Amino acid sequence: MSSERIRPMTPDDLPAAQRACAATFLEADRRDRRWNDPEPEPPDEAAARAWIEGIGHHVATDPGGCWLAETDGGEIAGLAVAQNRATVWYLAVFAVLPGFQGKGVGRMLIDAALAHAGDRVCLISSSPHPGATRRYRLAGFTLHPLMRMSGRLDRSVLPKTEGLREGRPDDFEWMDALDVTLRGGPHGADHPHMLERMRLIVSSSPGERPGYVYLDANRGGPILLAAAQAETAEKLLWEALAHTSQRAAVGHITTANHWAIDVGLAARLDLGRDGYLAVRGVPEPAPYLASRHHL
Ligand SMILES: CC(C)(COP(=O)(O)OP(=O)(O)OC[C@H]1O[C@@H](n2cnc3c(N)ncnc32)[C@H](O)[C@@H]1OP(=O)(O)O)[C@@H](O)C(=O)NCCC(=O)NCCS
Repeated sequence: MSSERIRPMTPDDLPAAQRACAATFLEADRRDRRWNDPEPEPPDEAAARAWIEGIGHHVATDPGGCWLAETDGGEIAGLAVAQNRATVWYLAVFAVLPGFQGKGVGRMLIDAALAHAGDRVCLISSSPHPGATRRYRLAGFTLHPLMRMSGRLDRSVLPKTEGLREGRPDDFEWMDALDVTLRGGPHGADHPHMLERMRLIVSSSPGERPGYVYLDANRGGPILLAAAQAETAEKLLWEALAHTSQRAAVGHITTANHWAIDVGLAARLDLGRDGYLAVRGVPEPAPYLASRHHL
């Protein structure tokens, strides 16, 4: 049993928590790197600021799911950031610093974060780390293997998309209703947070099935995509790819979302493996590409 203790995380903890999380994932990414992956880099200043702002939103919105583990001397050993949004719970961050791993710290953190869930639907974007997958499965989650597509986009094959427009705050109501259908709960406060930072493209014209996609603020491409039917999802994904400025990347593809693989292959992207989408109390969402930090 470890001598580290857990306590609620506060906004003052954010800078040190960011450094702890960055160090943990840099080591994990180096270890899990495949031969054709780029060499993992520590986050730059802008990425560190974005992390603090993003996790700051979580701590401010629902502090009850945000936990830190620390030593007697006040050194951070790990953190878990989970959030309740109406009927859904999700895990945004789970990390234990390399020097503290394998001693039960992660178990204390995830138990506290999961206690916050009550009987809500639960969603996690899981890394392949054996400690993480073990904990999630033992807590009753179903693990759906994830695929991702990446590479240099062939722009000559981009189709002309019609019936899409920029999203606005007055779209959130139907977007939340679509979220409930697909993932058992709305994004709620996360929609305004994301719209302030990212471009949102929606399908909501009369006669069109609803759907939306948020675009990565730095490199374009999809961050979170939800649609009522695969045809709309494909159209939204093509539109998101058209806005990619560098190497294209499409993540969080589960087996129920082969429509995304078909689009990626047509765009000449390569298929690869990732971690797992871990769900409890809800079937595999589709057509849906989850986001890492808002699920
Ligand atoms: C995943 C992580 C948060 C787990 O934290 P931890 O403190 O190492 O985990 P614990 O020591 O509490 O162990 C959790 C369980 O997994 C097992 N476990 C831990 N590390 C393991 C490993 N490398 N191989 C196999 N099993 C392992 C433990 O025995 C324990 O199971 P048990 O309680 O039934 O015996 C931590 O290892 C980590 O930060 N990894 C890198 C980042 C990452 O992948 N985060 C998860 C994002 S979803």
